[in-house]
Amino acid sequence: MEINGIKTIPNFIVFEGGDGSGTTTQLSMLSNRIKNHNQQKKIKFFSTFEPTEGHIGKIIRQALKKEISIDSKTLAMLFAADRNEHLYGLEGIICRVNKGELVICDRYVFSSLVYQGIECGDELPQILNSGFGIPELTIFLDIDPNIAIERMKERSSLEIYEYLDFQEKVREKYRNLIKIYQNQKAGILTIDASKNVEKIADQIWSVVSQMPILKV
Ligand code: TYD
Repeated sequence: MEINGIKTIPNFIVFEGGDGSGTTTQLSMLSNRIKNHNQQKKIKFFSTFEPTEGHIGKIIRQALKKEISIDSKTLAMLFAADRNEHLYGLEGIICRVNKGELVICDRYVFSSLVYQGIECGDELPQILNSGFGIPELTIFLDIDPNIAIERMKERSSLEIYEYLDFQEKVREKYRNLIKIYQNQKAGILTIDASKNVEKIADQIWSVVSQMPILKV
């Protein structure tokens, strides 16, 4: 399937949302459900995240933690470079899905269109990310930034984007983006992420378990 000439990547699920929306928690809960489900059906699956643990991802993390200073446009390029490696590098996402694996990822292109879109305008992240495929399913965890910021207060230190004004813009931009992609029939599941974590995990599983790869 293609959306605006861009190919969908089958068997590829992505979690998206503002900081503190719970993408990492839900990714790990979904991984556990797949593992249990897999006791009967032997599907290979791989869970991963962006920024990655690779060389470029490490530089990005230093910038996010304010250990080094990087211009916002350079950072947009680094996120895209990290993503290109993640997709096409050794044992990358494309290689895995082509082998029939199910890949689940914490953040992907939408994160760049939203966060770098706010930081340096829409054009650059759009150009940098225009060639990357669209996941079979994107799970958007939508949360009131006030609740998210409250959750993040438990963290020992905050990263460059983790403040209320920015997170309000993040939510608005995600919601606009999701509307556009939904109209183009991309697979998108929007979840009210203020709900109880187990309920969210159930809602996610009710959709993911219907994907062809898990039904065989
Ligand atoms: P996050 O998954 O929230 O990491 P952590 O484990 O530190 O909670 O992602 C780190 C930050 O990077 C988050 O604020 C979103 C941001 N980000 C971008 O700005 N652009 C991108 O393309 C990606 C993948 C992440």
